Amino acid sequence: MVKKYPNYNIINLDALTYAGDLTKHSDIQHEANYFFEKVDISDRSAVFSVFEKHSINLVTHFAAESHVDRSITDPEIFIKTNVLGTQVLLDAAKQFNVEKFVHVSTDEVYGELEFDPTTFFTENTPLEPNSPYSASKASSDLLVRSYYETFGLPMNITRCSNNYGPYHFPEKLIPLTVSRVLNNQKVPVYGTGENIRDWLHVLDHCSAIDLVMHEGVNGEVYNVGGHNEKTNLEVVETIIKALGKSEDLIEFVEDRLGHDKRYAIDPSKLEKLGWKPTYNFDSGIKQTIDWYLDNQEWWETILSGEYKNYFEKQYSL
Ligand code: DAU
Repeated sequence: MVKKYPNYNIINLDALTYAGDLTKHSDIQHEANYFFEKVDISDRSAVFSVFEKHSINLVTHFAAESHVDRSITDPEIFIKTNVLGTQVLLDAAKQFNVEKFVHVSTDEVYGELEFDPTTFFTENTPLEPNSPYSASKASSDLLVRSYYETFGLPMNITRCSNNYGPYHFPEKLIPLTVSRVLNNQKVPVYGTGENIRDWLHVLDHCSAIDLVMHEGVNGEVYNVGGHNEKTNLEVVETIIKALGKSEDLIEFVEDRLGHDKRYAIDPSKLEKLGWKPTYNFDSGIKQTIDWYLDNQEWWETILSGEYKNYFEKQYSL
């Protein structure tokens, strides 16, 4: 966005918690239209100050605690950031009369699908979140909806399937698998590995948000997904094969509590708005693996820091 819209000032507001990292911005940090503000979205006065200082008129709300496993061990921060933080942002957006508030949500708010390949989440699927994480995201979706219905705040909600790509924090399945396989460590596959996720490259998600920001009909929800359903085992096997390693690295471990069986998105509403993904799973996973090979120092630094303790607590493989 910084490069595509040189006439926009882009204000990146981030609390820089455990998964935040400014090295990701090294290629844009010196651009004249890029600004960074280290702010927690649940800090009302700090958020309002940023809106005032920069005369914010468009908001894309990506900020969230996002890891399901963490929400199972410690749900409280998910409510604070995802629910209360969203309410603060909504209040600021309302106060400063923003022209659009895009709330970046998730397909997980719909709950789970059975293993029937003909069923998909549509925008009309009822919200039935199953984890504290997805319940906090569903709660925030309802708050956003209410600010549209009650106050007329111009908004859209996007609900995307699983993302992957460069700079993905190595607690999530794909970067976790790549990093562990490269280090010849066992890869923990929950349960039987038959759960299905619908994978979308992060840049295709970004192009969807860009489109919704500029063309979305106010008050509408848009699902984002590229029909790339894979079982977790298929994903892990693909990565192991691409890196020329042995499937002996796969270790089936205890299942995640409340583990959703299957996610699959029907993106036809967004496609009618003009969106088309550029990656399929094969091209996207190849590009992603290459990125992790070329940027080993980035993820090695993370794995040897705070995350090391998290991982040792989470999986004793
Ligand atoms: O669907 C969108 C969601 O995708 C986002 O809203 C979430 O913020 C994001 O974290 C992601 O949620 P998942 O729980 O699907 O992603 P995760 O990478 O944690 O897990 C993907 C699948 O792989 C899931 O079925 C659990 C499984 N898994 C995960 C880990 C970390 C394993 O089998 N082993 C693992 O070590």
